[in-house]
Amino acid sequence: MPLADFPRLELAHLPTPLEPLPRLSEALGGPNLWVKRDDCTGLGGGGNKTRKLEFLMAAARQQGADTVITAGAVQSNHARQTAAAAAKLGMGCHLLLEDIAADTDRDYRGNGNILLDRIFHAHLHHVPSDTDLDLAAESLADELRETGKVPYMIPIGGSSPIGALGYVDCARELMGQAKQRRLSIDHLVLATASAGTQAGLLAGLHLQKSKTSVLGICVSRSAEEQENKVRALCAETLELLHCKRALPPEAVRTNGDYVGQGYGLATRGMIKAVALAASSEGLLLDPVYTGKAMAGLVDLVREGKLNDGENVVFLHTGGSPALFAYRSTFDGL
Ligand SMILES: Cc1ncc(COP(=O)(O)O)c(C=O)c1O
Repeated sequence: MPLADFPRLELAHLPTPLEPLPRLSEALGGPNLWVKRDDCTGLGGGGNKTRKLEFLMAAARQQGADTVITAGAVQSNHARQTAAAAAKLGMGCHLLLEDIAADTDRDYRGNGNILLDRIFHAHLHHVPSDTDLDLAAESLADELRETGKVPYMIPIGGSSPIGALGYVDCARELMGQAKQRRLSIDHLVLATASAGTQAGLLAGLHLQKSKTSVLGICVSRSAEEQENKVRALCAETLELLHCKRALPPEAVRTNGDYVGQGYGLATRGMIKAVALAASSEGLLLDPVYTGKAMAGLVDLVREGKLNDGENVVFLHTGGSPALFAYRSTFDGL
């Protein structure tokens, strides 16, 4: 089924800008760096989840839901964008928030995304880090049904084949912008976690027979585990779109060197990358995803792994509200 036939709601400000990063390119030397500004998708502070939610919230509506349930870490950008989308559509929103980063910091627990979740009027349910979130969401859905609600479950990170359609469309949008500028994009670099963004982009680029390579910088698991996750979701997304041509397995590339001690835990490289993007381009990254992804990109350029004259697009997937939750991490700046 073609992408245009899937139910979709207008939630995001699209197209997001594609901008050159001249000062960052000069500071690092090597390839020409660009940024695709998916931090500017508009809804409730913006970020990559809004593209996925255009399809997921439409599916929820189509099934007659009046309430959505999703899950994530305390500082989940996905939870915050889901809360904003639900508010905009007049739906209830329940968030299961897991203490993954095990942080007792006051800002982490009360500022940044979680402050915005409360302002969007979401119902917050804190759960311990070893909770089976799918089971917890199911039992919450049962409770809501007993009170007459019609809940719809949005997977963690919005990463189902339906959610990934948002990034199939982003690939189309980006290739259109590149064509308009006569720009040949050699590499696309992004943070990868629940995998829907990378899987959707790969599916979209494959449908267009694009030669652009995609590199996901892992923020929560090893490269091998992440590649398996991306590959599986990409295959399901292509199936949903009735594409018979399989993605070549080698098209799925990730780098697991920038996770540090774990998901949501700061690294020196992340702090330096956040400071570099901000001071050279006025570009705000985030401490959990794009800061680590940029740390990876900086190293790849400095190690000469990307050639002079190549065009490299960094997909900015958002998340800067979390900077306020990680205030003490940046104390030394
Ligand atoms: C700011 C940001 N960047 C990147 C990602 C990763 O995207 P995905 O979960 O689709 O792999 C997320 C997911 O929560 C995010 O919030």
